[in-house]
Amino acid sequence: MENHPDPLQRLEEIRTKALAEAQTVQGEAELSQWRVVHLGRSSPLMQIFSQLPQFPKEMRPAIGQRANQIKQSLEAALVELNQTLKEAALRHSLEADRLDITLPGRRPAPGRLHPSTQILREITRIFAEMGFQVYNSPDVETDEYNFELLNMPAYHPARDMWDTFYTTKPGVILRTHTSPGQVRVMRERSPEPIRVILPGMCYRYEPVSARSEMQFNQVEGLAVGRHITFGDLKGTLTDFARRMFGKDVRIRLRPSYFPFTEPSAELDIECFVCGGVGCPVCKGSGWLEILGCGMVHPVVLQNGGYDPEVYSGYAFGMGPERTAMLRYRIEDIRYFWENDVRFLEQF
Ligand code: PHE
Repeated sequence: MENHPDPLQRLEEIRTKALAEAQTVQGEAELSQWRVVHLGRSSPLMQIFSQLPQFPKEMRPAIGQRANQIKQSLEAALVELNQTLKEAALRHSLEADRLDITLPGRRPAPGRLHPSTQILREITRIFAEMGFQVYNSPDVETDEYNFELLNMPAYHPARDMWDTFYTTKPGVILRTHTSPGQVRVMRERSPEPIRVILPGMCYRYEPVSARSEMQFNQVEGLAVGRHITFGDLKGTLTDFARRMFGKDVRIRLRPSYFPFTEPSAELDIECFVCGGVGCPVCKGSGWLEILGCGMVHPVVLQNGGYDPEVYSGYAFGMGPERTAMLRYRIEDIRYFWENDVRFLEQF
């Protein structure tokens, strides 16, 4: 470094050089080097301080004052640089381990109710509004309740309507319908009046196809009292159909046969897809089959502990999966138990 003879001039050179070099400092190592070079014990500035006694006495205050100013401004530059470097380092590390919080989150997929459960709940809600209580009876039944007490003794030809899963225990079967619950409720409540529905899973030993499954739900309905008529049955079912399918829906009762009801009928509702004109859903008939029903057979009333001379009742049984299939136009009943989320997600 060229040493200017005039110490004040020399101080200005020291200052300019130090501040210029400060501009190029990168990183902490360079900064500490800069500090040693420009503010260290053997730095030109410090040398000026130690040479102070050698300068003419009258110049000393001016030189000392200026040297101090420069020292302070270099120290200030050091603090500032240090700060700038720290910020840069922080910025760099933030950039490097960046977590992109602007990425939209992934929505957790909430579970939902199975379509059968949804329909079951809707049916239950409607009947609850109409004053029906919910009653549960067992899935594993006896031959006695499933058939005999329902007016189907052994070898009764009507047993063929229900292909049955037998267990290894004689007389113990899986219920083929919810109707055995009728006798269970009657035996528990007799001689009180009854107004209940019995929802639950039923099992049939049948080949699985698009139209029939070996397990499915049913909702049984039962009313027993002193003055219950077929008109009550029709009124109840009309009201149910309107609440379930729309207030203008028309219904039709067709004569049918069940061993445990007399007379028996099947209930059709006007096809809600075509409005009764005829379409693939109703197979051109304009009507959809919804449930089986009838007046409780005197033998069944008797088996339940009610005197058929005094009491009467009606019963009905419907399949919620069938109802769901019609309503949502599901073409294959097997979807219900396949548990394919692409199916389940649609409800
Ligand atoms: N249990 C009958 C069936 O499974 C339906 C039914 C119930 C019919 C009650 C009449 C009365 O097909």
